[in-house]
Amino acid sequence: MVIDAKMEQALNGQIQAEFESAYLYLSMSAWFEANDLPGCAHWMRKQAGEEQEHAMKLYKYVVSRGGRVTLGAIAAPRCDWKSATEVFEQTLGHEEKVTQLIYALVDAAVEMKDHATREMLGWFVNEQVEEEETATEILTKFRKLGETPISLSMIDQQLAAR
Ligand code: FEO
Repeated sequence: MVIDAKMEQALNGQIQAEFESAYLYLSMSAWFEANDLPGCAHWMRKQAGEEQEHAMKLYKYVVSRGGRVTLGAIAAPRCDWKSATEVFEQTLGHEEKVTQLIYALVDAAVEMKDHATREMLGWFVNEQVEEEETATEILTKFRKLGETPISLSMIDQQLAAR
């Protein structure tokens, strides 16, 4: 069954949101590079890569349902933060927003009785639990340890292992 035009449009919106996430995390990665935290930069670069994979997962799904992918404009992301802690605060807040976007898509799929799309989105629902959990764990570390040279170096080494 060819995808409904309204759902096609909504999924195109999510493809754009995932690329926007990738762009934001790449910008955060660049900030970490500039602030001598290569482990954090590596972590964010990986995160940016994952967001592109999310976008492509949706892209392939739209195509597989006979839909048309149309890419929207991506605005320049924020490029400066006052601390590493603030970067991860924004990361968590951003993921919480993405979770809401995914939930809205699930609601729409249920309402439209589009069970294939609802099923596909189940992967994203689970992924968001993981994304929020990981961001929370890292943020908790920064909040607990503070940003001393020693704690920053320790956390940076941990994030380099991703
Ligand atoms: Fe694609 Fe981080 O959600």
